[in-house]
Amino acid sequence: MSFTRYGSVAPAEEWCRAALEEGKTLGFVPTMGALHEGHIALVERSVEECDVTVVSVFVNPLQFDDPGDLERYPRDEDSDARALEEAGCDLMFTGTLPEFFPRSFDEMGSLEPGALVSPGPAAEGLEGASRSGHFVGVATIVHRLFEVVSPTRAYFGRKDYQQSLIVKEVAARRGSPLVVICPTVRTAEGLARSSRNERLSEAERTDALALSEALAACDALWREGERDAEALSRALSRPLEAAPGVQLDYAAVRDAERWTSEDPSGPMGSCVALVAARVGPVRLIDNLVLGEGEACEISLGAGSRA
Ligand code: PAF
Repeated sequence: MSFTRYGSVAPAEEWCRAALEEGKTLGFVPTMGALHEGHIALVERSVEECDVTVVSVFVNPLQFDDPGDLERYPRDEDSDARALEEAGCDLMFTGTLPEFFPRSFDEMGSLEPGALVSPGPAAEGLEGASRSGHFVGVATIVHRLFEVVSPTRAYFGRKDYQQSLIVKEVAARRGSPLVVICPTVRTAEGLARSSRNERLSEAERTDALALSEALAACDALWREGERDAEALSRALSRPLEAAPGVQLDYAAVRDAERWTSEDPSGPMGSCVALVAARVGPVRLIDNLVLGEGEACEISLGAGSRA
């Protein structure tokens, strides 16, 4: 199948409907563009597992709490299109907010509150506390994208751990698609791939390695047998508090089977370590499920990690 690119939502919706009517399985990778190896790994996985692969490239204003951050978010659609065609993607599309939500704008040009989708309990704490309204914006666009594309499977990266819980919740409520959470793709040095990394200088990229190093140190402690939540959390935050060029936002642990907004205490049966920090002009996040390595996870249920 040849590569198709649409600059608006309606023809993309039609394209997807036709593919499904032909009995094809449809893999979907939602993105905000500025594609990197992490995105391409998701596309390649979809190409492997599905008959056709669709990628959306849409910098969703609803999920930005800082207008400056939205303005500075990197964009290069032509380069994205080239990378997607090479990776075997069949359809790339973008659109505007009014195209995604044609009936939901009031006379002031704002999206009506009724169009917003609740992200559920996994939006509480950490990223949800640091970025007001972010996860409502994510849940709203992901829900709408699922309506437009009707994917069989949707692929997301584990770097956005809390987002992955919210996406699973949105899919579980709708009864589809199957959500595939894929391993974080890292540079050889360990830095988690992110579109925002483009804005780091060489020196800042080196400073940013402190995040994955702190996660690795916490993982090593877990593998040695440490299970106490406070001890693990201290082992995660201490090196980051001292790291040059790193302004720590949070370093925390959570039960990997059950999200809580508050920090857990006492012995843990399963554990995900999560960090967020500002390095130079960029806010970075990263996480690691301790003792597991970078596994892939398929889910329809909100809480399921099977
Ligand atoms: O992870 C992202 O790039 C975005 O949050 C997503 C899922 C494409 C929704 O805008």
